[in-house]
Amino acid sequence: MSALTASAAWTALASHRAIHASRHLRELFQGDPARFPRLCASACGLLLDYSRNAITDETLALLMALARQQGVEAQREAMFAGAPINHTEGRAVLHCALRAPASASLVLDGHDVMPGVRAVLARMEAFSAAVRTGRLRGHRGAAFTDVVNIGIGGSDLGPLMVVEALRHYADGPRVHFVSNVDDAHLAQTLRGLDPATTLFIVASKTFTTLETMTNAASARRWLLQALGDEAAVASHFVALSTNLAATAAFGIAAERVFAFWDWVGGRYSLWSAIGLSISLAVGFERFEQLLAGAHAMDRHFREAPLERNLPVLMGLIGLWHVSFCGYHSHAVLPYDQYLHRFPAFLQQLDMESNGKRTDRHGNPVDYATGPVLWGEPGTNGQHAFFQLLHQGTTVVPADFIACAQGLHGLPDHHRLLLANCLAQSRALAFGKTLEEARAEAARGAPGVDLAPYRSFPGNRPSNTLILDRLTPERLGALVALYEHKVFVQAAVWNINAFDQWGVELGKALATPIAAALEGTPLPPGTDAATAGLVAHLRALQAGPG
Ligand code: F6P
Repeated sequence: MSALTASAAWTALASHRAIHASRHLRELFQGDPARFPRLCASACGLLLDYSRNAITDETLALLMALARQQGVEAQREAMFAGAPINHTEGRAVLHCALRAPASASLVLDGHDVMPGVRAVLARMEAFSAAVRTGRLRGHRGAAFTDVVNIGIGGSDLGPLMVVEALRHYADGPRVHFVSNVDDAHLAQTLRGLDPATTLFIVASKTFTTLETMTNAASARRWLLQALGDEAAVASHFVALSTNLAATAAFGIAAERVFAFWDWVGGRYSLWSAIGLSISLAVGFERFEQLLAGAHAMDRHFREAPLERNLPVLMGLIGLWHVSFCGYHSHAVLPYDQYLHRFPAFLQQLDMESNGKRTDRHGNPVDYATGPVLWGEPGTNGQHAFFQLLHQGTTVVPADFIACAQGLHGLPDHHRLLLANCLAQSRALAFGKTLEEARAEAARGAPGVDLAPYRSFPGNRPSNTLILDRLTPERLGALVALYEHKVFVQAAVWNINAFDQWGVELGKALATPIAAALEGTPLPPGTDAATAGLVAHLRALQAGPG
């Protein structure tokens, strides 16, 4: 048994769950009209309704005790102060510094990191303005109409998600994203683009990532084939990276490189130079509003009491579901089409951070950690996977996210969108009993009693997050909320949320397989399935006869 599962706070929660597991949300709401106002909290323009989770005041008190036992507050301070909390990589975790106000200072290893942060932001501002106004032009003197961000993981999902979320505000060049090494992604993106008016951003913290380097090299060839002059690379490529030697080797001039630092994790990097595509799409001022919204959430996370602290509440309730209720999946359901890539972004944020099985002392954990996170925007999801959410045998806690105001002048649409959002969370929570279904007297095929099919168990937990309007500032706060939620969970689970060793093995194994696909023998000891599939693929590639 680990120290955590043997601890007083953990065992108290486990017994509490055992006693109360059968209590239904219907019961919890009945006779408690104050449940909604009591189990709601707000900050930074976001309202969190967490009343429809199978929790009581006692559950919350026990969860808070667990957070305190695990030193969540001290761990939070250590992060903000720049302690090397990413202990396996010996790094500080300072993405919050990227969105701190101009007056802030943060000393790391005897050196204030903030002047460097501000200098890069100032360069991003100047560069974005020059591209957006057409002052900065391509090799042949034409203004840039299209920007292609080449990156993957955190160097893609964050900026892509934000550019999509803020598309309503986009008033700059068209921004495209290429991530997959599958040539279809690059080829389809470049189709129809004019090399003379296309700017490439090579976004890679390490500047060694296979997919990004392969796509960047092909993009470079595409450009040179059309413009026929090696010098064109200097005016059509910029790099966002911590690896300045590699960006220079690629041929990108120092003044076209926007640096960031090893204390910015890839999945936490959209606030850094990695956000350049955002600033190009919507303007630097809106990028700054995004940062300001995230900073407001940082302050809330740091200053609000745990009991009213949104990331703490969401983190602890999520942990309750995973570690005590056995719900290993989590759906994020934005009722906002602009947030259609938000679940994909959160998949990396949450699963790469908390998909861990070794604790901070190197011991295997004996409790469930990060859930499988997934989701799609409503109302589309309702016509696809909601059947399972309502009547399947797996309980999937969900986050519903909606904005009070739409951004377009079609109020009927927005009313229906919101009504569906509220109806779904209501149906999940309260369901429909067999008796209620029978009372409906619905008719099915002759001799078939439909009531069992038309009843809903309910008691399926959800949070609802309401924003007034999807602005850059609110989006910043929303993203930071989820970042800190992940932090809180890792702090309690005693795992390092900031490394990602689990991505390494597959990367390493791909190298000899890539060579084998060109005819080099596979290393001795390669398993029979891999060898068989390589042989099959090569035979198909050789074609008939
Ligand atoms: O393979 C995972 C990962 O290391 C992510 O953590 C990271 O966001 C992504 O690859 C891309 O890395 P880079 O920005 O160095 O190209």
